[in-house]
Amino acid sequence: LVLHGPNLNMLGRREPEIYGSLSLDQINSALDALAAELGCILAFFQSNSEGALVDAIQAAPADYDGILINPAAYTHTSVALRDAMAAIGLPFVEVHLSNIHRREEFRHHSFLAPLALGQIAGFGLDSYLLGLRALFNHNKK
Ligand code: DQA
Repeated sequence: LVLHGPNLNMLGRREPEIYGSLSLDQINSALDALAAELGCILAFFQSNSEGALVDAIQAAPADYDGILINPAAYTHTSVALRDAMAAIGLPFVEVHLSNIHRREEFRHHSFLAPLALGQIAGFGLDSYLLGLRALFNHNKK
């Protein structure tokens, strides 16, 4: 399950100097192409609402083996997303387009990262592709 947090629906138009020129659909298409190569099936969900993301995480174990998530701004604020991840216990990888560690101080902390298999940040589309590969390889073991 690929989860995209708030404002990622605006990718391509939103601060392209930070987040690049690709739209969310283009990112999802590139992930689908990699998934076909790897031999896995993806579902995508984007929401600007914290509660909707919590609902999606809670429902995930019924249908999915892992979660690739860009929690966007909720990375830095959401105990609720972290608790949802802790509750379900599915392996997940946290990704960010930008390198959050060299941006504003408030972006350096992630509530989710301590529970993640790993965090990949700073590589634009490649953050997602690397994250999918890492999650897939982890689950293959
Ligand atoms: C982001 C980084 C977050 O700090 C920010 O709030 C986002 C996007 C990224 O992908 O670089 O919305 O998660």
